[in-house]
Amino acid sequence: MKIPTILLALAAQSQAALRFGCSTLTIQRLDPLVEPGRAPSSHLHQIVGGNAFNATMEGDVGERGTCTTCTFSEDFSNYWTAVMFFKHPNGTYHRVPIMQNTALPNGINGGMTVYYTQQDFFNNGNQKITSFPPGFRMVVGNPGIQTAADAQKNPGYPGLKFVCLQNKGTRFPELAEFPTQPCVGGIMTVHHFPSCWDGKNADSADHQSHMFDTQVGAFQAARACPASHPVRMPQVAYETLWDTTQFNGLWPAGSPNPFVLSYSDEHGYGTHADYLFGWKGDSLQRAMDSNCMFQACENGNPLKSQGVAQMNACTVDTVVNEETDGWLTSMPGQNAMA
Ligand SMILES: *[C@@H]1O[C@H](CO)[C@@H](O)[C@H](O)[C@H]1NC(C)=O
Ligand SMILES: *[C@@H]1O[C@H](CO)[C@@H](O)[C@H](O)[C@H]1NC(C)=O
Repeated sequence: MKIPTILLALAAQSQAALRFGCSTLTIQRLDPLVEPGRAPSSHLHQIVGGNAFNATMEGDVGERGTCTTCTFSEDFSNYWTAVMFFKHPNGTYHRVPIMQNTALPNGINGGMTVYYTQQDFFNNGNQKITSFPPGFRMVVGNPGIQTAADAQKNPGYPGLKFVCLQNKGTRFPELAEFPTQPCVGGIMTVHHFPSCWDGKNADSADHQSHMFDTQVGAFQAARACPASHPVRMPQVAYETLWDTTQFNGLWPAGSPNPFVLSYSDEHGYGTHADYLFGWKGDSLQRAMDSNCMFQACENGNPLKSQGVAQMNACTVDTVVNEETDGWLTSMPGQNAMA
């Protein structure tokens, strides 16, 4: 029997995981993955990561970036999600500020927490964890899913969640949709990406089918990858903390959730996130092959890292110039949406 060599890629037990903060790089209507070349794209995103970010992005981003808003200074990847707005009873919208997560160095400007884990939070399950190739990109979730019925027909996104925060450390329960009561500590959105790769394609027409999701729950041991997608890659996840608290007093008792994601999603069923790989050289592979956990991977062990002031100083030019703050009569792009 001929056994595909890829299945023989067993590795010794290792325990490595990255968890790090990235400040906001920009909040703009740009989406080089789903709508390349369009400025503005259809809806507003928060983007973090490397400064090679632009309306169109091809090639090896890790070789082009010169700064990053993330802790690891060789990580020129870009990470982005939709942003959240509060819809006032008077019909106007206000963007919800983003706050720093716990367990990150103080002073990070907004941003998100990014994870790269192995088979689960603590180990690789004796499998080789293969880094992404240059040019790799993927999307998880689908903004077209707008109703509970649509969500039931599309159960393929077990890693997309909302958490009603009592404080910044709250992690459970994880909800499949927006909380329906005010949350005293804000709202966290969670996006876990699939981690089984087809081994061939850095992208696909829907930006999803080159990947396969076997996770069973947040940071738990994922099931084995299928023969169609046999290569286990790092499990990427984002946590974004939205400071909804200043709007809780404006939430009329008994009324439905007043928060809305920037593509006009009041339930959260269409929550989605985008990933564009941009680690320089073999830096991510070295981290996955090491035995470092979280902050212990910094300062050259094995990854180069930087402080908060340098992270916050990395910027990109504004390509789409429009108002995104203050009380707005509509969300950016909203009037063009179906
Ligand atoms: C972004 O794209 C524009 C138009 O192609 C180009 O002029 C600009 O230099 C690019 N910026 C970066 C940071 O690559
Ligand atoms: C809506 O409410 C906000 C917050 O109280 C206020 O600043 C804004 O002027 C109001 N807009 C309208 C059109 O009433």
